[in-house]
Amino acid sequence: MIPTTGFAADLTGNWLAATPNGDGTTRRAYFNLTQKDSSISGTVRITQFFYTISESSGGPTNFTFTASMMDGSSPRRVRYEASLAADELHLTELRPDRPGPEMVAHRVPNGEGAMPARIPPPALHKVRDNGLAKTPPMGWNSWNKFSRRVDDSIVRGVADAIAQNGMREAGYIYINIDDTWEGERDAEGNIRSNQKFPNMKALADYVHSKGLRIGIYSSPGPNTCAGYEGSYGHEEQDARAFAAWGIDYLKYDWCGARNLYNDAEMQGVYQKMGDALLQSGRPIVYSLCQYGRSDVWRWGPDVGGNLWRTTGDIRDRWDSMSHIGFDQDRLAKFASTGHWNDPDMLEIGNGGMSETEYRAHMSLWSMLAAPLIAGNDVRDMPASIASILLNREVIAIDQDRAGKQANRVLQSGEQEVWTRELAGGDFAVALFNRADEPTPMKVEWAKAGMKKTPQRARDLWTFRDIKLHGHAYVAEVPGHGVVLLRVQ
Ligand code: GLA
Repeated sequence: MIPTTGFAADLTGNWLAATPNGDGTTRRAYFNLTQKDSSISGTVRITQFFYTISESSGGPTNFTFTASMMDGSSPRRVRYEASLAADELHLTELRPDRPGPEMVAHRVPNGEGAMPARIPPPALHKVRDNGLAKTPPMGWNSWNKFSRRVDDSIVRGVADAIAQNGMREAGYIYINIDDTWEGERDAEGNIRSNQKFPNMKALADYVHSKGLRIGIYSSPGPNTCAGYEGSYGHEEQDARAFAAWGIDYLKYDWCGARNLYNDAEMQGVYQKMGDALLQSGRPIVYSLCQYGRSDVWRWGPDVGGNLWRTTGDIRDRWDSMSHIGFDQDRLAKFASTGHWNDPDMLEIGNGGMSETEYRAHMSLWSMLAAPLIAGNDVRDMPASIASILLNREVIAIDQDRAGKQANRVLQSGEQEVWTRELAGGDFAVALFNRADEPTPMKVEWAKAGMKKTPQRARDLWTFRDIKLHGHAYVAEVPGHGVVLLRVQ
């Protein structure tokens, strides 16, 4: 095609910028461009993102363009500065903070990298309960600390540590590999691990040999959040592969599905993997990760889910943790045996909060009957952090077999009292002080929903038995801290 005006060169075509991930896989960005006079239209597909170009300017060989997409109900936008030289397209993403790294794209055949055809979601039915996760799952996950750096040796080291440092005995039994383990599929479509994980079956055997279980991660979309291979169109095949490797837990993360399905279709999409896991014949805990969209707590159990994320990603900061944790009250009624709200993984020990704040994190998650999935480097953990993760009396609150998630019963400014009814009639009572400064707090038992005035309590962080007097309890609570009681 000969350009009519404007550009000296013709940009029309399908361009690929390929960047090695360093593990044998490649990050692929496709720019499918049509140039007409001096305007550029087309699409941009970068792993899990699929944008449509909405604006362009400049020329003939230097230009910028903006592309946008909808992610659920929120728009996303990218802007590039590009130049064409010797049939190479040089692109830099213009980000608000600083420009991204330069990418160099070459022409590839039309159709390469196109979004796969949409497979309609199945008709809804109720997936049989797998009977797993009778109490909230406990274990470890690679993402919070290691992100894309997770590999076979880290996972083995973590399994060794958990088998030796008391965590296994305390209940932390799932060793979960998050995103970036995935390799490319073979000619039959079988999923393979990448170079960081030379042999997934051998790794699973190793983890099992330590008396632990192993978890893995995938997405219902063609790509995962980190841009790796997802399970789209391969759900049953992947479930069979996971079962054959010996996988015991799957975290299934929406990300790459967003270009093919809208939020209202999530249930069917998650049901598909729920069915596939059951059909695999192996007991596999099913963890839904779609950031609490579409009231997942209402249908999570129906798709076979044992737990579902209720929020976006946690960060290792007091504001993130407390914002997420203290926002869970409205979801208490959706937790039940085998089916848990998941306010995301623990950040305890990752360094961004004080020990007081980490004790509040551990206490709040335990009150919430949340999964206790450690996210720190447990191979090298100070005793002070181990003592938080290993507090057996706090863990007993989390794992209480009645499975009743706590409610906020009192709130006054930045002070909140939450209570949780335990099997056998005890109550867990948590006095949280969200303020920066230490603050005296008072719980009046009747106002905290207790029908009888309790006589005794145990402080689960100071390990003191307390004799209670009268209708209330008063304690000084540290800033960003907690006093956690088991009240008899
Ligand atoms: C999403 C999830 C995280 C983690 C990353 C991995 O952001 O919410 O927990 O799994 O993807 O890419």
